[in-house]
Parts: sequence; structure tokens; C-alpha cells
Amino acid sequence: MARFPKPPEGSWTEHYGLGTEPMSYEDSISTEFFELEREAIFKRAWLNVGRVEQLPRNGSYFTKELVVARTSVIIVRDREGQVRAFHNVCRHRGNKLVWNDFPKEETSGISRQFVCKYHGWRYDLDGSCSFVQQEQEFFDLDKADYGLVPVHCDVWAGFIFIHLGKEPEQSLTEFLGPMVTALENYPFHLQSERWFYRSPVNANWKLYLDAFQEFYHAPVLHAKQTPPDFSAAAQKAGFEAPYYGIDGPHRVVSTAGIHPWNLAPNQLKPMEILTRSGLFGPWDMPDLNFEQQPAGLNPAGCDPWGLDSFQIFPNFVILIWGQSWYLTYHYWPTASNQHIFEGTLYFVPAKTARERVAHELAALSFKEYGHQDANTLEATQTMLESRVLDRFPLGDQEVLCRHLHKVAGEWVDDYKRQLTEV
Ligand code: FES
Ligand SMILES: [Fe+2]
Repeated sequence: MARFPKPPEGSWTEHYGLGTEPMSYEDSISTEFFELEREAIFKRAWLNVGRVEQLPRNGSYFTKELVVARTSVIIVRDREGQVRAFHNVCRHRGNKLVWNDFPKEETSGISRQFVCKYHGWRYDLDGSCSFVQQEQEFFDLDKADYGLVPVHCDVWAGFIFIHLGKEPEQSLTEFLGPMVTALENYPFHLQSERWFYRSPVNANWKLYLDAFQEFYHAPVLHAKQTPPDFSAAAQKAGFEAPYYGIDGPHRVVSTAGIHPWNLAPNQLKPMEILTRSGLFGPWDMPDLNFEQQPAGLNPAGCDPWGLDSFQIFPNFVILIWGQSWYLTYHYWPTASNQHIFEGTLYFVPAKTARERVAHELAALSFKEYGHQDANTLEATQTMLESRVLDRFPLGDQEVLCRHLHKVAGEWVDDYKRQLTEV
């Protein structure tokens, strides 16, 4: 018996016209497909690289290593306060411009200019070349022709996006579409306390996205983590999310929540009772001063509301909790069977030690779940690569997984078509 109403077509999968046949996971093991994804997806979509709070002052910068696009970029707030992006390469002989001890490690800081470690060429924060060592030794060199190579960069709701293509086909807000931009007024900026995890995962980037866009696995894989009564009930009823949304290449899933403080003490860990916190976040909610909650949130009107997880194509997730905090996930591919996972938690800054401890327990619980998910994915990847099986049935609660793989396939097909047309 479904707890929540299904669309008139009988299932979300049919409602969105995605087909119900078993799916191939060849797109997650094929090295050829991965090579195509580099160009077809990661150089043709807007990519989120962080938040404006990471650039608090004029001159603040950070670098982002984008192995999938074979580049590194510098994101900087220039002297006028504008956020800009450049390829992280010196115009003289191609040295990587900004790095610290290890060239492949990301870095951040504040600076008035960027100076190349090789021969000392200098660049202003707006990318213009401001100094060439022994300029008179060069031949007809005009510094004005040797600025850093710009990368398209735009900011939406405090999220910084870049586009690595020559000319984006759509503006950032056109690309994000109405479902995502409906979150515009959510007070992301008030939640500036940031906890950050980063880890290599030996699985295709789409597999980890899949693990976080269905909750079908939760009562099983995380059985020991979830309150036992909740797990048992969810498993018996067949866990269902009340709402799945699709808008262009993007997706959202919404879930009902639980109020942990109403659970019997034997359903909780002593630490959770002590800190009034856990996976679902701090039990005591900060005041976000909502004049009106953005229309796109809690689309099924759940009470209590659990979370809405917005999967922004290709590799970015904004997950907003009913308990007034949020998470972002990034999945940065490094090979067909490897990626870097980044999970970031954002809270209204703690004002008391109790709040600080509650944030820390939420962050640690999140990491614990992340480990369980990632561990399973590495096991999945190895057996997908055996190619013993080539078709996999996906249930209606896995509708978003089906959509992601369809969209990735469509973008790759579209790119191949464009190549043959040229
Ligand atoms: S490569 Fe940068 S100054 Fe020579
Ligand atoms: Fe999970």
C-alpha cells in the first residue's frame, strides 16, 4: 500500500516518460564513454565550484582542480568585488600559476596579485598581465595581449558556477531552470558555518549520485544507523518518498521527516540525546527569518518535512533539511571508475558551545553515512566491471537514477551528433 499518492500514470517513472525497461550501467564502466563525458558534459554544463562566502574579501581566491576537464581554475574576487574565474596557467611558458607546496593540491588565500613561481610574471586580480621580467628582452610583446585566459563565471544565490565551453548555450539561470531558481530566496547566506569533507572514491561519479538520489537503500544499508523502529517500519512498508520532480537535466526528491526528540530513548544513541543532534541535524532549529519559505521547498507539504535534495546536472547537489541547515555534494570525476567526493555542511553559525557540539555531531553522523555509501559503491563498481550482467531493473523509487543516466546518455549523443555535423 502506497503511503503517498502516485501520479495519475501510476508511477513517477511513467509520469516522466522515462521508460520502464531494465537499464544498462555501461556508462559507468566504459572508458570510452568517460572520455566523451569530459567534452560532452563537463565542458558543456555550468559547474558549481563553491560559494561566495569562500571569497570574503576583495583579493580572496581559491583554486579548483578539474581533472575531468584537464585543467585547474582560479576563482577570485577582484578589486571591484566581482567574482571572476581564470584558467590557472601562466601566459609565459605555461606553468601552473597558483599553488603552494604540491602543484596538484587546491589552495586558497588572499592576495593583491598572482606571481608565477617560474620567471616572476605578474597578473592583476582582473587577469591582466601587470609585469614581465626583463620585458625588453622579448620581441614585440604587448602585456595587454597576455592576460590570464578567462573562464565564464556567474553567481546564483551565492553559488559560484563556471562554464568551460567557448560560449555557453544558455545563461546560468536558463540552465538552472525554474525548479532550481525557485530556491533563490532561501537564506543560504545566513548559513555560513561550513564543515567540509573530501575523499577519493573508487567508483564512477554517477554511481555515488545514484546512492544519494534514492532512499530505497536507507533502511537496509544504514539499518544500524537509523532508529531501529524507524528502519523496521520503513522496511516493512517499503520506503517511499512522497515527491520526485524533474526539470530539464535536473532532479529533486523530497522526503517526510521524523522528530527524533519524540522517539523513545531506546531508539536513540546516548550521544544524540546528550547533544540534541544527529544525522537529521541539530534538534533545535535556528531562526532563518523566513518571510516566506521558497515555493519550491517541501513540494508534498510533509509535516514533519525531512529534506529536499536538488540534483543539479551534472555533478552538484543542494540538500536542504527541514531542520534549517543544508548540505552540498560535489562529485568530481577523475577516471571512469574514480572520482573525488566533496560533502559540505552549512549551519547558521553557532552562538553557544551547545550549538557548536550539535553541529559537530551532525557533521560526524553525515561522514559515517557517507562511508557506508561509498564503501558499497566500490563493491558495486568492481562487479559492474565484471560485465557478468548488463541489464539492471530499477524500481519507481529509483526514478531519479534512471533519469540521470538517460540525461548523461543524451548529452553524450548530442555531442557526438554535433561532431559529425561539423
Ligand atoms: S612560466 Fe610563468 S613566468 Fe615563466
Ligand atoms: Fe545512503
